[in-house]
Amino acid sequence: MTGIRPYRPDDLERLREICVRTAHAGQDATGLFSDDSLWPAVFLDPYLELDPGLAFVADQGSGPLGYVVATADTGSFVERYRAEWLPRLEERFEHVQPPTGLEQQIAHLGLTPERMLRAGAPGHPAHLHIDLLPEAQGRGLGRALIRTLLAELSSRGIRGVHLGIDPANTGARAFYERLGFTELRGSTPEEPLFGIATDAGV
Ligand SMILES: CC(C)(COP(=O)(O)OP(=O)(O)OC[C@H]1O[C@@H](n2cnc3c(N)ncnc32)[C@H](O)[C@@H]1OP(=O)(O)O)[C@@H](O)C(=O)NCCC(=O)NCCS
Repeated sequence: MTGIRPYRPDDLERLREICVRTAHAGQDATGLFSDDSLWPAVFLDPYLELDPGLAFVADQGSGPLGYVVATADTGSFVERYRAEWLPRLEERFEHVQPPTGLEQQIAHLGLTPERMLRAGAPGHPAHLHIDLLPEAQGRGLGRALIRTLLAELSSRGIRGVHLGIDPANTGARAFYERLGFTELRGSTPEEPLFGIATDAGV
């Protein structure tokens, strides 16, 4: 048993908790903002809503320990996000311009989906987010989640996937490099951008 299975709608609340508990450069963000649900509203919920077939859960029998979510084509995801997800986000969160402080910055990210169109990623049209609870880390589940996602993307004819990393998240960077992700053109120290071919074998 790999401990990886497709996402089910009844996982939703647990996955939101996992998102918040790992959201601040990989560390617990509970209570950091006036509303914890901002984190999943930007980095989890839209993927489950718009691309649920690319969401996989690590579950060794006691419920979700972590997840990977993704979209196969970032360009069309941005269009659907703007049309279908953004109106719901705008009802819930204020857009302060220019944003000051982390909470306003995360809201700004959620409310400007075009920021997902990163230069340097055209050969890697998919993108992903992955999070595991601290007690589930370091057991190979992250590798297994990525392997499952890459296989699904590859079966759909998608050649590459990319992701952005918070530069403060050195553990995540080490994980991706260990799996064979490399820095893409367009990556900067402030906004690292990594990618991998879906047939790379991790
Ligand atoms: C980053 C994360 C997804 C990695 O998943 P994981 O299950 O802990 O990683 P695995 O156990 O599958 O490790 C796979 C390989 O990466 C290496 N690795 C993982 N985390 C590492 C770290 N912090 N430092 C160095 N190497 C690391 C492992 O040693 C392992 O190598 P090996 O197979 O050759 O022994 C997970 O730790 C996590 O969710 N962290 C908090 C949230 C987060 O930062 N998400 C990413 C945001 S971009």
